[in-house]
Amino acid sequence: SRVELIVLDEVDSTNAEIVRRRAGRSGSDSGRIPVCIADCQTAGRGRRGRPWQSPQGQNLYLSLGLTFRGSFAMLDGLSLVLGVAVAEALEQQGVAGVGLKWPNDIFLGGSKLAGILVELQGELEEGVVQVVAGIGLNVHMKESAEVDQSWSSLDIAMPERRWGRSELAASLVNSVLDSVDEFASQGFSGFRSRWQSRDIFSGKSLVASQGGLAGNGCGIDDTGNYLIDDGEELVRVRAGEISLRVR
Ligand code: BTN
Repeated sequence: SRVELIVLDEVDSTNAEIVRRRAGRSGSDSGRIPVCIADCQTAGRGRRGRPWQSPQGQNLYLSLGLTFRGSFAMLDGLSLVLGVAVAEALEQQGVAGVGLKWPNDIFLGGSKLAGILVELQGELEEGVVQVVAGIGLNVHMKESAEVDQSWSSLDIAMPERRWGRSELAASLVNSVLDSVDEFASQGFSGFRSRWQSRDIFSGKSLVASQGGLAGNGCGIDDTGNYLIDDGEELVRVRAGEISLRVR
């Protein structure tokens, strides 16, 4: 198998666990991709330093340790590729209407269903970059006092289905590995339209978190920057630089 599966009852963060397991290993060991899945996280992390609520037995918390030939510059594109991979896996599982909120939040029915955290572990050797890709997918969660944004879960959105976390995990891992292979060999170009067809910002009036930028959402360019029509020109927004929201 290409994957070294690590299944844990409890961990601080599956992303942190991947980092620990790979630290100090040489580049030429098994060559397998470590995938860590935990039943709960005590310090789950979200983007922008936020916590990720990770109650036991409810949701999917999974991380993959990926290795790329290339530079850090590829990370913005990778982040969007992972969003596409998660959206496509959910669609294969029968979820209709999956949306992507730039750069890579997974939305369903106007609420956040899953989040992705891409972290750079470091450079293994010249030109070989180690990345940790973490996915949190809300499956059974029905209430949480501590989430500060509008969220959903598969049980809430599709109560008639009996969701199994193992099947969802297998589907997510397969989709991510396929997409990452394609990204590594052919770059971002094949993902642009797959990302754009699920863009929840498209045609919406948007504001940026800093800098006073406002305008209409126009999708992404061929490297994954978001495009905003401010009435005069198309302004490019780089992933990680600022965040966007509907006005
Ligand atoms: C976001 O803020 O949208 C990203 C959330 C990512 C959460 C997942 S859960 C598995 C992995 N381990 C973590 O600590 N975070 C990611």
